[in-house]
Amino acid sequence: MQPSPTPELSQFAADVLAGLSATPKRLSSRYFYDDEGSRLFMEIMKLPEYYPTQAELKIFEDQSDDILAAFSDNAEGIDLIELGAGDGAKTAVLIEHFLAEDLDFTYSPIDISQEANAALEARFREKFPSLEIRPHTGDYFQVLDSLKNGNGRRKVLMFLGSNIGNFLREKAVDFFRSLRLVMNPNDRLFIGFDMQKDPRVIVAAYDDPQGVTAAFNLNLLTRINRELGADFDPAKFSHYAQYRPVECAARSFLISREKQTVHIEALGRSFDFEQWEPIFMEISQKYTHAMLEELSSESGFTIEAEFLNDEDFYIDSLWRPV
Ligand code: AVJ
Repeated sequence: MQPSPTPELSQFAADVLAGLSATPKRLSSRYFYDDEGSRLFMEIMKLPEYYPTQAELKIFEDQSDDILAAFSDNAEGIDLIELGAGDGAKTAVLIEHFLAEDLDFTYSPIDISQEANAALEARFREKFPSLEIRPHTGDYFQVLDSLKNGNGRRKVLMFLGSNIGNFLREKAVDFFRSLRLVMNPNDRLFIGFDMQKDPRVIVAAYDDPQGVTAAFNLNLLTRINRELGADFDPAKFSHYAQYRPVECAARSFLISREKQTVHIEALGRSFDFEQWEPIFMEISQKYTHAMLEELSSESGFTIEAEFLNDEDFYIDSLWRPV
């Protein structure tokens, strides 16, 4: 085995190196969420063009009775486990209803960020004094493994907000299969998916006129400047979003406005950009019902219940392990 030339590189640095050395160049959307990126994403969720948040919220507001029935379905009590809860605004709607209906349940948000968990816990303890909340900080699979055969109660794993859309198809299947491995037969997986719809509606959601989404994308360059000592000039890149209806995939890019060279201190090297050269930043996959059937069965699940909003814009799907 060759010794690595730079063994001290962080995962972030290594991923930036691999992405900017590749053809075409790419950066991973998982690095969008530093403090400023998380703040910008909350701004995105308030945009009128960004429909997924409102759609999922509406499903929870209108269908919480049916969701509760599907979750509890003769189970003695349930442990709700949320992967990446964010600010928890949507989950709060479900929790409020479950408490009002006297469901016997606990709520465990899992997040890699200690601060995110602490903030969510503080907010929920104030809002819901009687809620049994048990946050876990760490990697999803490590935490889930530690919760594996716990108490025999049903676990409902929740992965909301169409977060799965950022995974390429193969990665999504891997992810669901790994979840399947830590689930008992009576556990359930509850996932938010954004559906195929008018392409113009989708493009507008990822290219808002206020430029919040552009700022969200460009913020990753600023993060690389700060954390890896780079000299990106964000003004020399422009945000470009497109939707390909055949693949049901929205993608975003940063386009180099001019021929330029960027130096990254932590990598000890420079990267050349041609004029109009793109950096692929993010995929936001949309789904058809047929794709969801395929995805669930390929991952070892069957669809037990579906909660759609009125316009078929968005779906929350409840999966049972097979
Ligand atoms: C957080 C992955 C659901 O892809 O819709 C929003 C992130 N990117 N606007 C999405 C995002 C640009 C969002 N997810």
